[in-house]
Amino acid sequence: MRVEVRNLSFSYDYRPVLRNVSLNLENGDFLVVVGNNGSGKSTLVKCILGINRVPEKKIFLDGMEINEFRRRLRIGYVPQKLDDFNYEFPITVNEIMHVSRYSRMRDEDKLALFDRMGILELQNENINTLSGGQLQRVFIARAMVNNPDLLILDEPTAGIDAESEAKFYRIVNDLNDEGVTVILISHNLKPGRSNFNRIMRLTDGRARTIAASEYFERGVD
Ligand SMILES: Nc1ncnc2c1ncn2[C@@H]1O[C@H](COP(=O)(O)OP(=O)(O)O)[C@@H](O)[C@H]1O
Ligand SMILES: [Mg+2]
Repeated sequence: MRVEVRNLSFSYDYRPVLRNVSLNLENGDFLVVVGNNGSGKSTLVKCILGINRVPEKKIFLDGMEINEFRRRLRIGYVPQKLDDFNYEFPITVNEIMHVSRYSRMRDEDKLALFDRMGILELQNENINTLSGGQLQRVFIARAMVNNPDLLILDEPTAGIDAESEAKFYRIVNDLNDEGVTVILISHNLKPGRSNFNRIMRLTDGRARTIAASEYFERGVD
């Protein structure tokens, strides 16, 4: 999916959070968004997701004005802080997958998705027993059920172990190789892990987009 943001400013209750942010992503781009806590990273993706309402003609998805855009299922989203997911009921991995297209998926496709995400053996586990990395993969699998062409991941590797992190990047890189546009918010971007070709740094709601090569030569900080 193509994503265009034109000079977007956004406030919560008159308090400005994003200031004149612009962005242009082509199909298959992989953008990493970095920046300090409170710099507006989650706010930006919530605008792109249509969770935060924005004025007209500020955001375009595949050329369509976001307020007119109805095909939300084309966007897969893994929100920040999965720790806050605390289910009172003993819900299993299999049950949490029931979003939109899932019930219509063929069993073999479900199994292929589980296998790909490395959660095949977890299907009947209570989600409260999963590690952070396992839960993360369940939520990515869930975000992938509708075959989105934009995947938005908000600090997905915070608090997961190194092996799960490596697994996570392999999965996301593969999806990106297949043409899925990826927006990854990351606190601790390490070189050599992700396929990203674009980096945006947010500082107090102001964005600077730089090429990956520039990041590796000089760093962003
Ligand atoms: N729903 C909200 N209502 C009011 N203020 C918010 C809300 N969400 C975030 N903020 C504020 O907006 C600023 C940017 O937050 P956020 O986008 O979450 O930053 P980041 O993801 O970069 O840490 C912060 O000062 C935060 O407190
Ligand atoms: Mg955030």
